[in-house]
Amino acid sequence: MSSLSNYLASNQARFRDELFAFLRIPSVSARSEHAGDLRACAAWLRENMQAAGLHTTIHETPGHPIVLGEWRGAGAGAPTVLVYGHYDVQPVEPLELWESPPFEPEIRDGRIYARGSVDDKGQLFLHIKAIEAHLATAGSLPCNVIVLAEGEEEVGSDNLAAFVEAQASHLACDGVVISDSAMFAPGQPSILSSLRGLAYFQIDLEGPSVDLHSGSYGGAVVNPAMALARILATFHDATGRVAIPGFYDAVREWEPEVRAQIRGLPFDDEHFRHEVGATALGGEAGWTTLERIWCRPTCEVNGLLSGYTGEGAKTVLPSKAMAKVSCRLVPDQTPSAIAELLRRHLAQVAPAGVRVQVTELHGGNPWRATLAGPLFDAGRRALERAFGKAPVIVGEGGSIPVVHDFTRVLGAPVMLMGFGLPGENAHAPNEWMSDENFVKGTQAAAYLWEELVRRG
Ligand code: BES
Ligand code: ZN
Repeated sequence: MSSLSNYLASNQARFRDELFAFLRIPSVSARSEHAGDLRACAAWLRENMQAAGLHTTIHETPGHPIVLGEWRGAGAGAPTVLVYGHYDVQPVEPLELWESPPFEPEIRDGRIYARGSVDDKGQLFLHIKAIEAHLATAGSLPCNVIVLAEGEEEVGSDNLAAFVEAQASHLACDGVVISDSAMFAPGQPSILSSLRGLAYFQIDLEGPSVDLHSGSYGGAVVNPAMALARILATFHDATGRVAIPGFYDAVREWEPEVRAQIRGLPFDDEHFRHEVGATALGGEAGWTTLERIWCRPTCEVNGLLSGYTGEGAKTVLPSKAMAKVSCRLVPDQTPSAIAELLRRHLAQVAPAGVRVQVTELHGGNPWRATLAGPLFDAGRRALERAFGKAPVIVGEGGSIPVVHDFTRVLGAPVMLMGFGLPGENAHAPNEWMSDENFVKGTQAAAYLWEELVRRG
């Protein structure tokens, strides 16, 4: 066993203990009452990265701080790679559905249960431990590394693009590595070929100035809840296509090879249906389930609010109705163009009697990988060494807003090698990360640096 592998093996228990300490900090970026916890989490991370041998700094933003770690001892002739991850997590509600408290990590059946275990603290942390292993055993890394950890990914990374732009020369690199996604199946390492983008809106409808008695007024006053239902119903046609005019105009066709490759992956609709617990699957006609998730844009309702929703019955005609709606985007759609199309569409379909207001909550651009070059070759070899199996190339339906900015500002290729698994409950109660993937992911992350310089 090499001293690197040996170090990883003999320190694994401590790595897990440290990860648990990281997971105990409730860094919920969406909730202002947790602002102090985000600061504490950034400070903890800084300390841990410093101990690993990185030179670390904390950068304030209008939101939550950014933690930067650097090791540039390989010199100007060696490649520089930036590792990106996020230390913030999603809210934990509904709390009563957690089998163990979200911020008291626990291992059950080989899974590390905690909010943020897989998204993204566990996956970020394994990179820090991989770097530590090199510096502890060899005193150096084969290349220069920059670790960039942000605290606002789960709320749209609003302040990160500006930071990357302002620090562009400091962050200049030959490639970016991100572990914030899932493997296609247990034991099957995966590299991402695409991410969808996001355009998130709140739609508010106002009808009468106050709630009204539905007997005294109902039938004579436009009901905002019904008006909202009618508006939302115009978002799709009967074949599941989004019916907002112009919605598909910017969509770039997928290469036939990409579709063929996706269709070649082993995927069972019935198994998937069972896993999500639905009675039937549904989506845009003419596309397979994986294509619907990876290759096609969507328009979904994420939340609805209107009228009386408490116990029993209340006869009321609500004065307001609200919907949270988000569109997942594919290249070359942009959040701003989609917002414009949605506004125009709403102006067309909103009935008289309600005022409609649209607020853009956040957005991110879609991204497609260039799956060639030394970083990808190294990633493939590192994953195969750690997992004993060559990685497959997969798409992804979720979004990581900064990925597009890395490509745009730094001009560097981005490689996403994730260590989550299907069913990991990210953003949901009982989030978990496979302990085996934490171990093998740390190995893969450590091997990556060796593989990157192996063939120049
Ligand atoms: N880790 C996810 C991205 C992701 C989602 C990767 C699904 C693989 C599968 C990330 O933390 C996330 O949830 N992103 C948000 C972005 C949004 C808040 C701007 C998302 O996709 O909803
Ligand atoms: Zn994440």
